[in-house]
Amino acid sequence: MPATVIVGAQWGDEGKGKIVDLLAQDSDLVCRYQGGPNAGHTIVVDGDTFKIRQIPSGVLRGKTCVIGAGCVIDPEVFLAEVDELEGRGVSTGDVHLSGEAHLVMPWHVAIDQASERRLGSLQIGTTKRGIGPCYADKAARLGIRVQDLLDAKILRQKIEVALAEKNVWLERVYGVPPLDLEEVAGQLETLAQRVRSYVDDTALLVDRALRAGRRVLLEGAQGTLLDLDHGTYPFVTSSSTVAANAAIGVGIGPNRIDRVIGVAKAYVTRVGEGPFPTEIQGPDQERVRELGGEFGTVTGRERRCGWLDLVALRYAVRLNGITSLALTKLDVLSHFDELPVCVAYRLRDGSETHEFPAHQSDFHHCRPVYETLAGWQEPLEYELPEAARVYIAFIERALGAEITLVGTGAERESVVSLR
Ligand code: IMP
Repeated sequence: MPATVIVGAQWGDEGKGKIVDLLAQDSDLVCRYQGGPNAGHTIVVDGDTFKIRQIPSGVLRGKTCVIGAGCVIDPEVFLAEVDELEGRGVSTGDVHLSGEAHLVMPWHVAIDQASERRLGSLQIGTTKRGIGPCYADKAARLGIRVQDLLDAKILRQKIEVALAEKNVWLERVYGVPPLDLEEVAGQLETLAQRVRSYVDDTALLVDRALRAGRRVLLEGAQGTLLDLDHGTYPFVTSSSTVAANAAIGVGIGPNRIDRVIGVAKAYVTRVGEGPFPTEIQGPDQERVRELGGEFGTVTGRERRCGWLDLVALRYAVRLNGITSLALTKLDVLSHFDELPVCVAYRLRDGSETHEFPAHQSDFHHCRPVYETLAGWQEPLEYELPEAARVYIAFIERALGAEITLVGTGAERESVVSLR
């Protein structure tokens, strides 16, 4: 299995970190292909919790880690993560940062925050980490890249040009104080001195690894329904989260990818605004949130919780070309007598569909059609209870895809391999 993509099949927070951590054992390289400090992976190792935002979780297994060209990097967050990991005895010496990745600058964070405030009730509910404004500048060719950190003179020049424009926006459009050039340039230069040693030609590094027959994991951030093109726009992130973008984001040909593993929770969560057909109404929502610890890794926000949505999951299987699935957090459902599963959507005209609506207004107005499966009360161990097996088989039939891994608890080892 030279190159395997691991992709979130819902709205993010599916527990990809844990699956990557597991598969990293048999891999040589672990690469991130998009996103930035909006992501958050929680991994529990021997009772110790690690929350990682930018560095691939393979770092905990001592693997070569790559942050690819398709990512955006906040250098301050990156170095804080480096310090945290090193301070806890995890080496970051084999972490490689693409020079083509873009930098999240202080003005991106300021604009993300101000623009959400300005949108009021129409806000997207972003993580306010500057992700959208950073990717927007990348597309507008105004971005500052990791490689610009290598030359103090170029860095200063680019900051000067960008800030002259951004300060007009900050002051006149958003009514917030401008940023001081000397202060920003000074801070960046200090950060640059430490980030430089991590900068590399990561596309070449990955290519060489694949040619040498080494095993590469390509790790997506967020999830399919947050994809900029195919997700629930405009309530999405600003990068392409789907598996096909793994090739672009690290800089290899699409024919180098052999397997696509989708990661889905046994229920669904969503952070931020936007339609969510299976959002649970009533006290079970709070129950799922508490049992599943559904609070954001990055923002601490409460995640909205819903029953499993097979219409959306089938869409994710199709969009990503998912070859097998990991179903995480099945243990959270152990406490329910009955488990509703959404098998279709009812549209405004009363018709039922099994396909994810292509148009935003259809999705906004659709209602879930549920089938109710029996729950189980036993704790999940290596032998899954009969009702849990029925739940899994039901999902596999509906999706036409195999579930090969099942998450049964927070600890690193709490994963059951089905095949
Ligand atoms: P942004 O990525 O910060 O611009 O946020 C855009 C949308 O994506 C918001 O609804 C966020 O809550 C959501 N989002 C971004 N990153 C994550 C993540 O790692 N998990 C879940 N939702 C996320």
